[in-house]
Amino acid sequence: MRAAAADVVGILILCLASAAAALDFKYHHAKELEEYLRGVHAAYPSLTHLHSIGRSVEGLYNFTLILKNVFSPSPLKGRDLWVLVLGRFPTHHKIGIPEFKYVANMHGDETVGREILLHLIDFLVTSYGRDPVITRLLNNTRIHIMPTMNPDGFEATKMPDCYYTRGRYNRNGEDLNRNFPDAFENNSARIQPETRAVMDWIKKETFVLSANLHGGALVASYTFDNGNPVTGSLEGYSKSPDDDVFIHLARTYSSNHASMYKGTGCDSRQTFPEGITNGYSWYQLEGGMQDYNYVWGQCFEITLELSCCKYPPEDQLGKFWRDNKVALIEYIKQVHLGVKGQVTDKNGNPIPNAIVEAKGRPHICPYRTNEQGEYFLLLLPGTYVINATVPGFKSMLKTVEIRDNTGNFSALKQDFSFPDVSDKITSRVASCPKIPLYQEFTRASAAVKPTVHILVLMTVMLLIFK
Ligand SMILES: *[C@@H]1O[C@H](CO)[C@@H](O)[C@H](O)[C@H]1NC(C)=O
Ligand SMILES: *[C@@H]1O[C@H](CO)[C@@H](O)[C@H](O)[C@H]1NC(C)=O
Ligand SMILES: *[C@@H]1O[C@H](CO)[C@@H](O)[C@H](O)[C@H]1NC(C)=O
Ligand SMILES: *[C@@H]1O[C@H](CO)[C@@H](O)[C@H](O)[C@H]1NC(C)=O
Ligand SMILES: *[C@@H]1O[C@H](CO)[C@@H](O)[C@H](O)[C@H]1NC(C)=O
Ligand SMILES: [Zn+2]
Repeated sequence: MRAAAADVVGILILCLASAAAALDFKYHHAKELEEYLRGVHAAYPSLTHLHSIGRSVEGLYNFTLILKNVFSPSPLKGRDLWVLVLGRFPTHHKIGIPEFKYVANMHGDETVGREILLHLIDFLVTSYGRDPVITRLLNNTRIHIMPTMNPDGFEATKMPDCYYTRGRYNRNGEDLNRNFPDAFENNSARIQPETRAVMDWIKKETFVLSANLHGGALVASYTFDNGNPVTGSLEGYSKSPDDDVFIHLARTYSSNHASMYKGTGCDSRQTFPEGITNGYSWYQLEGGMQDYNYVWGQCFEITLELSCCKYPPEDQLGKFWRDNKVALIEYIKQVHLGVKGQVTDKNGNPIPNAIVEAKGRPHICPYRTNEQGEYFLLLLPGTYVINATVPGFKSMLKTVEIRDNTGNFSALKQDFSFPDVSDKITSRVASCPKIPLYQEFTRASAAVKPTVHILVLMTVMLLIFK
């Protein structure tokens, strides 16, 4: 009798698990998407955490809905912006475990990312405990997946359509990938609810690495999307101090993708060597999400253009998943590049807001430790001097030898211990400089040698006064 009962329970668990695993290659509209995510969480409650980081616009300015809401006990405004978190400890951050994210469908008419992220979720949960690599990845990484940042735009798009449609924008007609604060100019666009939700989310979590999934091209594009002469705009390339790391990240994706690495793009007029490009070199844009992540979020983000056709027919979704599967996994592993650690006082109390950076690559808004005194720096293998600074103390410098340890799912560990600082850190957090952060010609950047500017300036002056 007992055995039979156990069998029934076993069969029930199997049914639950396979119900969640049975994921078709078809488009999932808002309701189906929510059902799928709830189903996965119900089947894998200790491996996943499902939450909404905010709501979209639709309804906020819709009179039918406003009227309905007045009489409704549970007023509805917008659609949920769902995030499924996966990992050994899905509900909260653990010291030493880096946070990773994928965001798709911020342009509502670019739909491939939305569906392949659902398949990625399916693959991760069904491989945990079976595939040793995925098991270790999930044991050592907290992975946040947001299948759609623009649910209203997706619903507004008629399918399938390979080209630009109004569904690209949110319900207020704003392009969400032009809607973030910009490091180089004052962005006058009004910050949308979807953007605000993502900004708050970035502030709350210690994200280290991220990618933003789009369509309409086939290339991995990296920061900066905007620029000025200090970052190299005169040379047609806007370089961050971590350009080497970004090239590696973009290349990791393209070289593990079925065809992106070939660089043929979508037509013969536009080719991308190795399937990667600097954002600015491709085309300049203001208020993009990847620059925001890097400058204000301490998170390295790249933009993945995954399909020539923005909204391809459903029967192609299986191939898109197979083409991207390995690249999606290999890219997540890169969150374990470089060095990480904790800054504490001599009693082991964490010191938040300490500046920790690698010498020679200062960030315009210095990267700081989180509440638990932790820092994460993505760096390629090599020798670096790591500089930890707590206001009122002499900076602490440590030389580290970094090896590629991504296959072992852990960056190099280097902690810093300061004398008793409790009374000194009245946590005066220095804010970022004012926009534009990168002052033209007035600030020597690590990315571009000042001599180049003087030469350029002289040339410009010669031309003007000729
Ligand atoms: C307003 O909301 C209603 C109810 O959800 C919906 O049927 C209608 O399409 C919406 N109208 C617009 C203009 O979005
Ligand atoms: C993953 O974590 C679980 C729970 O701590 C542990 O039982 C398992 O051995 C770990 N697996 C690997 C491959 O590290
Ligand atoms: C942006 O605005 C600030 C203050 O509002 C101003 O000082 C700065 O010059 C502006 N920058 C640009 C590029 O317009
Ligand atoms: C270490 O970082 C601090 C804060 O950014 C900076 O003031 C200092 O000059 C740096 N020290 C070295 C030796 O680079
Ligand atoms: C992987 O990490 C473990 C400890 O977490 C360490 O003992 C081992 O030497 C590492 N392996 C490699 C190949 O770095
Ligand atoms: Zn896009």
